[in-house]
Amino acid sequence: MSIDYMERIPNNVDLHANRRLQRALEAWQPGFQKWWGETGPIGFQEKEVYLRTAVSVDAKGWAQFGHVRMPDYRWGIFLADQEPDRKVNFGDHKGEPAWQEVPGEFRGVLRRLIVTQGDTEPASVEQQCRLGATCPSLYDLRNLFQVNVEEGRHLWAMVYLLHAYFGRDGREEADALLERRSGDVDRPRILGAFNEATPDWLSFYMFTYFTDRDGKYQLASLAESGFDPLSRTCRFMLTEEAHHMFVGETGIGRVIDRTCELMKEHDTDDVRPFGGIDLKTLQKYLNFHFSVSVDLFGSELSTNAANYYTMGIKGRFEETRIDDDHKLSDATYPVEHVVDGKIVTRQEPALIAINERLRDDYVTDCGKGVQRWNRAIAKAGIDFELKLPHRAFHRAIGQFGEDLGGDARVDPEGRLIPAAEWDRKQRDWLPTADDHAFVQSLMAPVTKPGQFAGWIAPPRRGINNQGPDFEYVKL
Ligand SMILES: [Fe+2]
Ligand SMILES: [Fe+2]
Repeated sequence: MSIDYMERIPNNVDLHANRRLQRALEAWQPGFQKWWGETGPIGFQEKEVYLRTAVSVDAKGWAQFGHVRMPDYRWGIFLADQEPDRKVNFGDHKGEPAWQEVPGEFRGVLRRLIVTQGDTEPASVEQQCRLGATCPSLYDLRNLFQVNVEEGRHLWAMVYLLHAYFGRDGREEADALLERRSGDVDRPRILGAFNEATPDWLSFYMFTYFTDRDGKYQLASLAESGFDPLSRTCRFMLTEEAHHMFVGETGIGRVIDRTCELMKEHDTDDVRPFGGIDLKTLQKYLNFHFSVSVDLFGSELSTNAANYYTMGIKGRFEETRIDDDHKLSDATYPVEHVVDGKIVTRQEPALIAINERLRDDYVTDCGKGVQRWNRAIAKAGIDFELKLPHRAFHRAIGQFGEDLGGDARVDPEGRLIPAAEWDRKQRDWLPTADDHAFVQSLMAPVTKPGQFAGWIAPPRRGINNQGPDFEYVKL
């Protein structure tokens, strides 16, 4: 089904057949536009940006490209096609027909999951709202705005579910999603990483590589949900999410390319005097963004996660491809613990280790990009490897975070060390104020088509077969 763009809210959910819902969403829309105007990209709202807009959910051609002013972007509601005879694929209700309405007993829990996911979407737009002013190129500027408008659409996706399936409570939650603000002392966003600043473009690429990838894993496990509308919504969101992670992986890759070029040209590791970002600083940024993103998966052992699974509302990554009973009645799963000052692996009931399993899938996926970056570094003839830090490093949540206790900290290799040692060494592991100031000092806008800032290489390819020198944003 293709989408009617003449409608106020483009959709493939037959919105006009449900006048009450349509009116409720139309009543929410001005608040969204006000939110976008206040907290969306600063300084570029009037400019035409070469954006892709979802026009169908057809795998072969779901998007259209063209220059659009961001406030005129058509944020719509698109659900992946319904699979005939889809079943609940895991938990106590395994084998029952997938739910088209919210089962009464799971109402509160489902609403909470949808609100938590929904809250991350506007948060990232808020975090990134100032980056336009320092873009390294028009190509990158366009990619930033593409990510931003799609996060806006993801907010619509969650708000649709709240309005369509959760009555008055859902409408109140949808309003609250426009009231919280990233980093606000009184009304912060729900999850920690979404209250951190994204002050520079290196942080932006790290965020889209590591934190949007958390989004991928959360959406993928919600896409397994027995609540069919949630599953269908998340499946389509994943299509868009892939581009966000592409922006991160290629962004970091291009910084590395440029750094390697400068290292060879000047025969030094210290490329800062030549306007490049040294690999050591890149590693520190990576350590920070990886560690705050692994926190997003929650505690290693979680009865909440077990309950979501047993209820059939949040599954494992690629649940239906896993060869087991999908109930996890007596299965176990290896989980790392701190025992006598060391990190050791113990088998735990798989049901309460669902978060850790998802984190494992995520960590493996993160490692693939790191490998590709390292291949590029090796190819440049440079002897340096980027590494993911140990998952226990710099954690705030779970047994390596709040539960670690007293004087213990974890270094990037996964060794427990006393706090005093951590205090001495953390400047080698995490970006310091000086590192931030240096990266910030490189952030000067480059806005001529085809030109790129000196700290980043041009992309190999443009967007939608356009060249790197295309006018991606008309200034
Ligand atoms: Fe998103
Ligand atoms: Fe995203």
